[in-house]
Amino acid sequence: MSRSVLALLDVRPAYTAMLSQKYDLHRWDQMNDKQAFLNQTGKDITALVTSAGFGLPDGLIDDLPNLEVITSFGVGYDSIDIEACRARGIHVSNTPDVLTDDVADTGIMLMHATLRRIVVGDHWARSGQWAQKGAMALTRSVRGKKLGIVGLGRIGQGIASRAEPSGVEIGYFGRSTKQVDYRYFDDLVALAQWTDILMVACPGGDATKGIVNAPVLSALGKDGYVVNIARGSVIDEPALIDALRNGVIAGAGLDVFHNEPNMDRAFADFDNVVLYPHSASGTIETRDAMAQLVVDNLDAWDQRGELVTPVV
Ligand code: 8YV
Repeated sequence: MSRSVLALLDVRPAYTAMLSQKYDLHRWDQMNDKQAFLNQTGKDITALVTSAGFGLPDGLIDDLPNLEVITSFGVGYDSIDIEACRARGIHVSNTPDVLTDDVADTGIMLMHATLRRIVVGDHWARSGQWAQKGAMALTRSVRGKKLGIVGLGRIGQGIASRAEPSGVEIGYFGRSTKQVDYRYFDDLVALAQWTDILMVACPGGDATKGIVNAPVLSALGKDGYVVNIARGSVIDEPALIDALRNGVIAGAGLDVFHNEPNMDRAFADFDNVVLYPHSASGTIETRDAMAQLVVDNLDAWDQRGELVTPVV
């Protein structure tokens, strides 16, 4: 008998189809009476497919007493209660590496888009203001700036290596120093004071909640920019909105927010902010690779009792 798998989402149609050919797949997102399903079939489910966005809904594992494994679509696992999984002996996998390039590219893209005011420029051309009023206002150059990266993990390093040819000086903040030539700061306010562009690339979760706060934004200063491709939770969002409103910083490029997808509408009023709807990994190529890794992890668990990219 094939393994009973509960999928909280459709990772990608072709890959969900693969899962339903191999496994007894139940689609949570298509169920009308979820509680009736849990009462009847919860005990048969041994594997759960979720994503960084969906995470692990509160209490769900209590209704899945024989759950062995969670394969998550996404690198971040701050939305999964890892300690609760560990306590229950539930194994968890994520999808690292395959999304590093697209997420790092997005960090660079948002940095350039913010300093060069791409959205304002697009509007200037599109709306006819260029013809009516002349050239758009001058913007800021990336070249010669200092880039301060918060979290020099795989994605942070991908951003640093892409930024080097743009002629920026690189510094970073993190739990420990890395074998790199960039300048290390063990204090985030000190990094913000030094840098022109604060690039947030660390994991989310309790350890980093709100670390980019009002004092950090003040230290960054009125000519400084924030780019966030990590998690909304890393930034104290009300403090960021205050800083943008009051000219404490120059601007921001944001892929992630508190309370997604119901982003604080205040951001929509700032023309010095470039917004992206949590889509750094959102290319067909990368999402396919992530979905393949979800399938590979599930198959490895099913066939050999091990995971390709384990978190726990
Ligand atoms: C995911 C992400 O694609 O990988 C992560 O941690 O945040 C994104 O790349 C997205 O959350 C899918 O749910």
